[in-house]
Amino acid sequence: RVLILDFGSQVTQLIARRVREAGIYCEIIPFSADADRIRAFAPKAIILSGGPASVTEAGSPRANDVVWTLGVPVFGICYGQQTMCEQLGGKVEPGETREFGRAFVEVKDDCALFEGVWSIGAREQVWMSHGDRVTKLPEGFRIVATSEGAPYAIIADDARRFYAVQFHPEVVHTPHGDALIRNFLFKVAGLKGDWTMAAFRAEAVARIREQVGSAKVICGLSGGVDSSVAAVLIHEAIGAQLTCIFVDTGLMRTGEAEQVVTLFRDHYNIPLVHVDASDLFLGQLEGVSDPEQKRKIIGRLFIEVFDGEAAKIGGAEFLAQGTLYPDVIESVSFTGGPSVTIKSHHNVGGLPDRMKLKLVEPLRELFKDEVRALGRELGLPHSFVGRHPFPGPGLAIRVPGEITREKLDILRQADAVYLDAIRKAGLYDEIWQAFAVLLPVRTVGVMGDGRTYDYACALRAVTSVDGMTADYYPFDHSFLGHVATRIINEVRGINRVTYDITSKPPGTIEWE
Ligand code: XMP
Repeated sequence: RVLILDFGSQVTQLIARRVREAGIYCEIIPFSADADRIRAFAPKAIILSGGPASVTEAGSPRANDVVWTLGVPVFGICYGQQTMCEQLGGKVEPGETREFGRAFVEVKDDCALFEGVWSIGAREQVWMSHGDRVTKLPEGFRIVATSEGAPYAIIADDARRFYAVQFHPEVVHTPHGDALIRNFLFKVAGLKGDWTMAAFRAEAVARIREQVGSAKVICGLSGGVDSSVAAVLIHEAIGAQLTCIFVDTGLMRTGEAEQVVTLFRDHYNIPLVHVDASDLFLGQLEGVSDPEQKRKIIGRLFIEVFDGEAAKIGGAEFLAQGTLYPDVIESVSFTGGPSVTIKSHHNVGGLPDRMKLKLVEPLRELFKDEVRALGRELGLPHSFVGRHPFPGPGLAIRVPGEITREKLDILRQADAVYLDAIRKAGLYDEIWQAFAVLLPVRTVGVMGDGRTYDYACALRAVTSVDGMTADYYPFDHSFLGHVATRIINEVRGINRVTYDITSKPPGTIEWE
């Protein structure tokens, strides 16, 4: 187990990703963690992340001194290097040359960190982002590489196994960065990369059994990857003590509700309550055109319906949820100011307190791609595991303005044609999310010899790592032309197709 102390860098999660890709379990905790918490974790190695503060400022973050006395290897990155030096008796000063972005380091000496990767005399590309720099080394350290703005770009104390770098090895802009991190884990810390999804599955099953005992568990399925993987894993642990509830809002895509029912009931034989609540949802959404209003109505109805079904099942003590690691990392924020609500996401979460359910969250330690790997390990079909994310409010936020059954039907058909074309072109897995939006606009067209006056639709496809930022997907024009023709030919009610080339920011992924 590796512990990552977070000093608030934007890319701390990437350090965790690199460690886990090496097959080693790790967790991120705030830099302010006290000695007991760090000891209790029993880390085999510690990594100190970067961060936005300056060690030269009074009151800037420091690691608890227990980090230096546990006898385990420590790797400092950027701010982590500076605080390591400062805390161990070295000196850090504001730099004359600030380095942001691509920089080069010159390798001056051998070091376990780049054994088999870099050699003495080499000039290697790294990614820097710092203003301050180390100007005096603590006792026991030597310089192994330098850069223009950072004479102490890589430093090492081999006796204590303390290593530190001024750049960011966890980002892809440092081409051999992951190899450096692996060397720290394998060569310096002597760890084995044996944390696999098969091992996680076995451990998770044991933990769920221990937590739940003989109690009943209910789980809301959304049709998405997270809740599906959580349900299958819990079912493996406790069998028929688990009942799944699938609330069909009538806002799903073509065939989606049927797929969920078939997979869970027929394939996995998991007890499933399928509630067709589409009349209720569409009825309450009638005449509503404000996006936040739609989200609120859908969120409220979902909870009401779920709650009602849970009461019918009766006696459940636990609620299973597909919460992921990025939702539970205690983030370190130095900005302080209030953040603006762009959209009230995750609105299908909180159940009423009176239900008094305890939570089972077996995916709390996993990143999204690890959940996918676990899904494959559990035998979920590829089509399910590799699915693009789908928002809780479903197609309601892909029909800007007022929703009607007619509009939803048209959108479903267009979306199905679009996704079919993407799959056939072999592009589905390259794209984070792709979907059609039915615009609340009718336009004039000509088909055959007649005039048409039908809806316009927009196609959207983006690449993204986490949904926080996104780029539009650069389809070939010939592909776009082909999809547009198919949609207009195959979908009655649409006579014009546009492609959305907005990135996020300034746009958002969904239109509402
Ligand atoms: P935006 O549109 O904010 O979307 O760029 C980022 C990601 O979140 C999804 N999304 C939602 N998910 N409830 C959800 O559960 C919502 O209300 C919601 N709105 C957007 C969106 O599909 C994308 O993956």
